[in-house]
Amino acid sequence: MGKTMRHKSPGTLRREVIDFHGHLASIAGRQTQEQEKKNEMHKVIFDTDPGIDDAMALLFLHRHPAIDLIGITTVFGNASVETTTRNALFLKREWGIDAPVAKGLDKTFNPDRPHVGWPTFIHGDDGLGNIDVPETVDLPVDPRPAHRFIIDTVRAHPGEVTLIAVGRMTNLALALREDPDFAALVREVVIMGGAFDVNGNITPAAEANIHGDPEAADVVMAAQWPVTVVGLDVTTKTVMTKAMIADIAERGGEAGKLLADISKFYVTFYEQHVPDGMVVHDSCACAYVVAPELFTVRSGAIRVVCGGIADGQTIQSPDNRLFPPSPWDDLPSQKACIDIDAARTLKLIGDTLVLGG
Ligand code: BDR
Ligand code: CA
Repeated sequence: MGKTMRHKSPGTLRREVIDFHGHLASIAGRQTQEQEKKNEMHKVIFDTDPGIDDAMALLFLHRHPAIDLIGITTVFGNASVETTTRNALFLKREWGIDAPVAKGLDKTFNPDRPHVGWPTFIHGDDGLGNIDVPETVDLPVDPRPAHRFIIDTVRAHPGEVTLIAVGRMTNLALALREDPDFAALVREVVIMGGAFDVNGNITPAAEANIHGDPEAADVVMAAQWPVTVVGLDVTTKTVMTKAMIADIAERGGEAGKLLADISKFYVTFYEQHVPDGMVVHDSCACAYVVAPELFTVRSGAIRVVCGGIADGQTIQSPDNRLFPPSPWDDLPSQKACIDIDAARTLKLIGDTLVLGG
């Protein structure tokens, strides 16, 4: 004989339905909280050429509670890629950073571009302010080239990874060439580079990171992914004073002391350009990821001049302007930072660098 069904009273049924909805709502609430928490955290691959201001940016990413640093990829720029990779390993070891390091190639996107010398007068012969970085650092490097590491890591975390690129755009462009579809899986691309409404710093037209590989930068700006460019328009307003650096050395533990030692050389270079301290270019790009409200952005397609006297210049076609047909047509609208709350950005950077110190 089949089981006998007991009929429930309408009151009991209503209570059960209400309980069930409550249960669903609490699961949904938990899921929303978990999702919000997940969205607040930023999984970051840091593409870098350390580099003194790169070192500061790396410590910022390591210490910021909303950043999950899942990879460091190296590129040439402030020094050769051999040196910048050695420096990334050195900082990883000194600061106890878990993220793996993958080394970039040693050629520009267009391999026929003539080599421009390394800026040893800005970052020192060793790229880290001549602090006697050991010749070699006994830590493993990821076996993949940087651009392959970037593709694989993004594909392993679709929609979650933010790429912060603060050196030449070579690795990003190589990744796009090797796997164009991976762009759609990147959460956000934030670049330190370029100069829109101000002069460049390596020529009157061009900023160093873009000038060092303009073809790569043009590919990155034209790709179908959301790019924000944090360029000289905002970074040159963000000057960390010597007093702030001394405070980081005092309150930031051994890591803060090392950062201050590395920075001395850069501060000396900046004596010709700012009254007190140094411009913290690369940290601005990292600050944008966690506090975009500190920046004013302008939207529009961005192209990079490749060749001629304006080689490496970044030019945006603002979305709110109409022009006759031009090489900016049909490209994605990207964001260029045109203003910054420098005082609050510096406070955010300073407060983060001393966390856990
Ligand atoms: C950029 O060039 C490099 O010297 C710095 O590290 C920064 O990324 C500034 O133009
Ligand atoms: Ca850099």
